[in-house]
Amino acid sequence: MKIQSPKGTRDFYPELQALQNHLFTCWQDTCLKYGYEEYEGPMFEHLELYTGKSGDEIISQLYHFQDKGQRDIALRPEMTPTLARLINQKGPALKKPVKWFSIPRLFRYERAQKGRLREFYQLNMDIIGSESTQCELDLILAIAALLKKLGLKQEDFSISISNRRLLAAILEQRSVTNPTPVYQALDKRAKIPSEKFAALLQESGLSSEDISFLDDFMSSKDLEELKSFCQTENALVAFDELKNILETLWELGLANCAKLDLSVVRGLAYYTGLIFEVFDKSKSMRAIAGGGRYDDLCSKLGGPKQTGVGFGMGDVVIADLLQSKNLLPDLQKDRIDYFIASFTDPGIKHFIIAEKLRACGYRVSHPLQFQKFKKQMDTANHCGARKVLFLDSEQAPEGQYEIKDLQSGKQSFASIEDLD
Ligand code: HAM
Repeated sequence: MKIQSPKGTRDFYPELQALQNHLFTCWQDTCLKYGYEEYEGPMFEHLELYTGKSGDEIISQLYHFQDKGQRDIALRPEMTPTLARLINQKGPALKKPVKWFSIPRLFRYERAQKGRLREFYQLNMDIIGSESTQCELDLILAIAALLKKLGLKQEDFSISISNRRLLAAILEQRSVTNPTPVYQALDKRAKIPSEKFAALLQESGLSSEDISFLDDFMSSKDLEELKSFCQTENALVAFDELKNILETLWELGLANCAKLDLSVVRGLAYYTGLIFEVFDKSKSMRAIAGGGRYDDLCSKLGGPKQTGVGFGMGDVVIADLLQSKNLLPDLQKDRIDYFIASFTDPGIKHFIIAEKLRACGYRVSHPLQFQKFKKQMDTANHCGARKVLFLDSEQAPEGQYEIKDLQSGKQSFASIEDLD
């Protein structure tokens, strides 16, 4: 009986693993360049870390079980609650604001489809302990930088920006007392028929006037139109925050990709301020990344009130987008610097040369049992070797080896000290 891999998981054969490593290196390099420090946590946590904090949708997607000590455990579906737990645990010992990043493997029992799997990796960048909206700027600039490092141009993606605080103020203005189900309905607005959307809002206690007001508000095309809906002090303050961030991003060179987009609501319950999602330009794929500011997560998890802001970027959609734009590098080429070949059985001589070359910093491979010459050359080509070093060429002068450059086909002679 052949056992298949579980639905929604991937097998990382070496070629795919090499692409994962390429993505992780780009992510990591950019985070370090922006001054963020890396952290990690456990892959499973107590179930209660998520229940009541992340929102119903993610709770319905949890992989959870009881361990042998009858503890309720969940595989982590996101990193933010773990981050908040880590922050709470260290308390004032941590110098704020902290700028941290992590690349966790996450698990969500959701319908496996293009761009959404049950097991995936997600870059997280977060800043904890600063109310300044410069944190949002820093994170959004980092997103643009890491997409650029992967080869994308500003014209290839958009960063859609909205403000939960503004939405909350607008709902308060309409005297809506329980905004959480409204956010969840608004988050589904683009994905469900309008009658179903209206029915969800009605179930959340909204009158038909509220629904049509909200519909008009959500359809605002620009900042000026949006401002006309803001009739309270709270709404105006939140509007100004959103306007300032957008205008500063435009000034900082992101005019081609950062835009006002009220359809961004975010499914997660804990956001309280600016929220954003990143899409491919035509919005034909699922979101590449999403995040925002969350004021109450640390305090809900038993710590002091502490504001945070951050985002998550999964590895699935970004890889699909890079592939569709032909931006995935050929990582098999030049994987090995020197392949050591021989015409006669080398005994253990190839090990000795290989170790010398490795000590000089080269990536080296060789057959582990004697093979016919043609088979050795096939292996050298197959493993992406840059050059072949022949151990026992009769033409090579004393103390030198015959070298073949597999790209140009050129042959030459060199001593170990003269290799490049
Ligand atoms: P999220 O919107 O649930 O936010 O996920 C962020 C990103 O993770 C998505 O835009 C997508 O790229 C990727 N993602 C989510 N679910 C899947 C899936 N099933 N398969 C593949 N990729 C997926 C969060 O997780 C927040 N905790 C992010 C955050 C960090 N907010 C503040 N700090």
